[in-house]
Amino acid sequence: MIPLGLDNLAAAVNPKWVTARYFTEGWGTFFKEELYTLAILNLLVGLVGFVLGHSITCTALHMAVVVVARRVMAGGFCCSSKKLDGQTIVVTGCNVGIGRATVRDLSLRGARVVMACRDTHMADKVAAEIRRETGGDLVAMKLDLASLASVRSFAAELRANIGEIHMLINNAGVMFCPYKKTEDGFEMQMGTNHLGHFLLTNLLLPLMTHSQPARIINVSSLGHAGGIIPLEDMNYEKSYNKYEAYFNSKLANILFTRQLAKKLKGSNIQVFSLHPGSVQSNLSRHIVNKGNLPTGRLSALLMKTTVEGIQTTLYCALEAQQQEPYYYSDCNIAFTIKAARDDALAERLWLVSEEMVGLSKTSELSPDSKTQ
Ligand SMILES: NC(=O)c1ccc[n+]([C@@H]2O[C@H](COP(=O)([O-])OP(=O)(O)OC[C@H]3O[C@@H](n4cnc5c(N)ncnc54)[C@H](OP(=O)(O)O)[C@@H]3O)[C@@H](O)[C@H]2O)c1
Repeated sequence: MIPLGLDNLAAAVNPKWVTARYFTEGWGTFFKEELYTLAILNLLVGLVGFVLGHSITCTALHMAVVVVARRVMAGGFCCSSKKLDGQTIVVTGCNVGIGRATVRDLSLRGARVVMACRDTHMADKVAAEIRRETGGDLVAMKLDLASLASVRSFAAELRANIGEIHMLINNAGVMFCPYKKTEDGFEMQMGTNHLGHFLLTNLLLPLMTHSQPARIINVSSLGHAGGIIPLEDMNYEKSYNKYEAYFNSKLANILFTRQLAKKLKGSNIQVFSLHPGSVQSNLSRHIVNKGNLPTGRLSALLMKTTVEGIQTTLYCALEAQQQEPYYYSDCNIAFTIKAARDDALAERLWLVSEEMVGLSKTSELSPDSKTQ
């Protein structure tokens, strides 16, 4: 059952989004992104105005409303011009969607990007495309978050070949899939979205504790507001609802970030979780019929483009300073539900996750494991 209440309603609204900055910055990127959509929409508005005999002023007003409405949909923009030369950044699930757009931007800023993808053939192709455009240093590596063995072998390869990681962006995700299990017997959404990233982050921590500041960014979702942590039935053996399982995994992302912040207190690693907005991507592949084009096109009008969808990730990567509740939306700190701010729950989830992924505190996490 999705818990309803004022707390969840408040989580749905980022009370800080209406700032002067929101309406004064990012128009350049907005118009570049939206030129085509705005042209079509305003052509339609113009035609309707002409047929209905509206005055030019009235039609112009309607067109302005269309622009403002799309601007609100587009959300906050991160206008940082910060360069990332010399930094190594790992991004998970980045052969498509939000991850791919994130990699492109980071590469344009000079970062060396490790693309951690399960489909290495496609990732190699995407890396080559981005490299051609940015001239950047991109490496595609195999990572299947639905396999603990794959996570361990990816981490071991990084430890062997890469000295330092300055940023880890846990972006990969699967949504609303039918009941399926990962290689290790975990329910697919909790297994991929939370447990795979939980293990990966812990295994890469030794590469992040160096003299330069580092960041860990977990891409969560507003959907966390409908989530609970099913501590007694983490693999949904008793009952399964694909929607709730996704929301629960996204709540787990925020609680993981919270407990990580506690564990990393006093270190030079900052942690963030975020909601990217409602973004045009492949995420709804398990529920949307690809043949249903008109619905897809129409719903796209209410969604962000991928470039708009990466703005909060960029904000967390470039500008934000870690602060409670470690959850951001539209380039601003955002409100979360009470469960996402529950320290005791965050700690319990950590312990349960540690046990599920078989994280051995001694050998896998020691700084010496860098060379293992
Ligand atoms: N789009 C939205 O409106 C929205 C809203 C809120 C939150 N989010 C979050 O944003 C993140 C990115 O989603 P997106 O919208 O860009 O979706 P997407 O286009 O479906 O991309 C998801 C990425 O995750 C990868 N992935 C899935 N399972 C994996 C696994 N087992 N191991 C490694 N990689 C795996 C996918 O790889 P394959 O291509 O090989 O499947 C793909 O690269 C997700 O965490 C999602 O929950 C998105």
